[in-house]
Parts: sequence; C-alpha cells; structure tokens
Amino acid sequence: MILALFAALLLAQGQGEASARPFSPRPVSSFQSAKAEWFMRHRLPCLGCHELGGEGGTIGPSLSELKRRRTPAYVYAMIRDPQGTAPGTIMPRVPMSEATLDLIASYLTQREPTRPLPRPAPPPATLRPDSTQAGATAALYARFCAPCHGVRGGGEGYNARNLPVRPTAHADKTYMSTRSDDALFDAISAGGYVMNRSNRMPPFGWTLTRQQIWALVGYLRSLCRCEGPSWSRPKR
Ligand code: HEC
Ligand code: HEC
Repeated sequence: MILALFAALLLAQGQGEASARPFSPRPVSSFQSAKAEWFMRHRLPCLGCHELGGEGGTIGPSLSELKRRRTPAYVYAMIRDPQGTAPGTIMPRVPMSEATLDLIASYLTQREPTRPLPRPAPPPATLRPDSTQAGATAALYARFCAPCHGVRGGGEGYNARNLPVRPTAHADKTYMSTRSDDALFDAISAGGYVMNRSNRMPPFGWTLTRQQIWALVGYLRSLCRCEGPSWSRPKR
C-alpha cells in the first residue's frame, strides 16, 4: 500500500504535469510579485507574444487584465497545457516547475489590472501553401515563426518591433552559414533562454514533433539557400 502510494507519487513527479489537481491561486506578496515579473521578463518566453504592463508582444492577448477576464483555473490550465485548453493555439507548452507555474498563475490572476496596449490586427497571411510536405512546413513556419521572423525569414515579422532583440534573419546567408543544423534544431526545440540567447524566442520542443522541427531546420536552409559550416556537415 505504502509502496503503491510511493510509486504513484514518483509517477506524478516524473511526468511533471500529470496531476490535474484543481488550482486555487495563493496570495502573492510584493516580493513574490517582483519575482514573477522578473521571471516573465528575463527567463520565460511569455512576453515574446504577450503584453504585460506595457511591455511585450501582440501575438497573443494582453495579460495585463486577466483578473477581470479569466478565471484562475483557466489561466492555470492554459499555461500548463495550452493545446489541451485552446486546441490549435500556437502558444507552446513551456516546461517549468510546479512551483513556478503556481507562482506565475497566482500572480497573473491577482495582479491589479493595468490598461492593455492597443493590439493591432495582424497582417493577412500572404502565403497559400500547397498540400505537399514542403507546403505543410511552409505553413507551419508562417503560423508559428513568421509573426516574429517574417514570412520570408527577413527578421521583420509584425511582432519584431515589440521585442528587445531582433529576431534572427533566417534568410541571411552569411550569418546562417555559421550555424550548424544541430544548433538550429536545439534553439527551436529548447528556446532562446536555454541557448544563452534572448528568452523571447519560445521553446517548441514540447509542442511540435521532432520531425516537424527537423523539417523547419530544412526550411530555414531553403530560406538562406545555405548550409551549415563544413565541420558540422556529414562527410560525403
Ligand atoms: C508563441 C506565442 C506565445 C507564447 C510564447 C506564449 N503565449 Fe500565451 N497565448 C498565445 C496565444 C496566441 C494565445 C491565445 C489563445 C489562442 O490561440 O486562441 C495565448 C493565450 C494565453 C492565455 C489566455 C489569455 C486569454 O485572455 O484568453 C494566457 C493566460 C497565456 N497565454 C499565458 C502565457 C504565459 C504565462 C506564457 C509564458 C509561459 C505564454 N502565454 C507564452 C501565444 C503565446
Ligand atoms: C515571439 C517571437 C518569436 C517567435 C514566435 C519565434 N522566434 Fe525564433 N527567435 C526570436 C528572437 C528574438 C530570436 C533571437 C534571439 C537572440 O539572438 O538572442 C530568435 C532566434 C531563433 C533562432 C536562433 C538562431 C541562431 O542564431 O542560432 C532560431 C533557429 C529560431 N529563432 C527559429 C524559430 C522558429 C523555427 C520559429 C517557429 C517555430 C521561431 N523561431 C519562432 C523570436 C521568435
């Protein structure tokens, strides 16, 4: 009995998000608010897509007045499992400890609302992808990446102006020739923070499949019409 309990506990821990327990926000001290804000600015990718307190992107809705608009349970569920909560969303699942998830959700749902910045309508999609494999990858790039990186990888998507760092120009042959395929894969998968780059580059490894991410690496190579450095390429 005790062993079974122990095993269940381990399982829940190992899976991280396995426990679908009901969420009740805990009171947030001013120290914890500062901590939550610091995390969101400097560590998590949230402000790449969302505005909070006047700073951040316009890909997703503003997070400045969640207290008025959403229940704590919804906010918690959305951060913990975006695809399960808003099926088809481009918001990626961001791995974080249970304690951080609790802190961020508690903070966001209790923060005194501030006036959200205007959120201009995104430009209409200019791409009409076909139904081939290459078309599917182009569509993936257009939906998930182009808002920041630009439809043709010029680094000038409509959301680029809201970021403290310029999104990499995937069409820049000179720069992209210095990056290995593995480095590109890791950046898309793990996100900027882990790669010692801007935390506003989101991690997609918990949302897209490995095949999709490798296909995206191939797509970046077609945008730059270039290969990685010779040391990184398989010998022919
Ligand atoms: C790649 C962009 C992106 C990133 C990164 C991102 N989100 Fe989102 N988020 C969205 C979009 C888009 C939506 C709107 C849901 C939909 O697609 O319909 C959303 C919705 C939400 C909602 C629900 C808001 C509402 O009013 O319905 C919350 C809460 C939220 N995100 C929090 C976060 C947090 C916290 C982080 C960081 C851990 C984060 N998001 C990272 C794009 C993103
Ligand atoms: C919310 C904006 C945003 C979105 C969405 C986004 N990126 Fe990025 N990305 C950035 C920023 C900003 C950087 C630059 C980070 C730096 O230089 O510190 C970056 C960097 C990168 C890099 C690192 C390049 C290098 O120098 O090694 C790759 C690869 C990349 N992005 C691919 C993608 C792909 C593929 C997608 C879509 C699946 C995507 N990004 C979606 C903002 C974004």
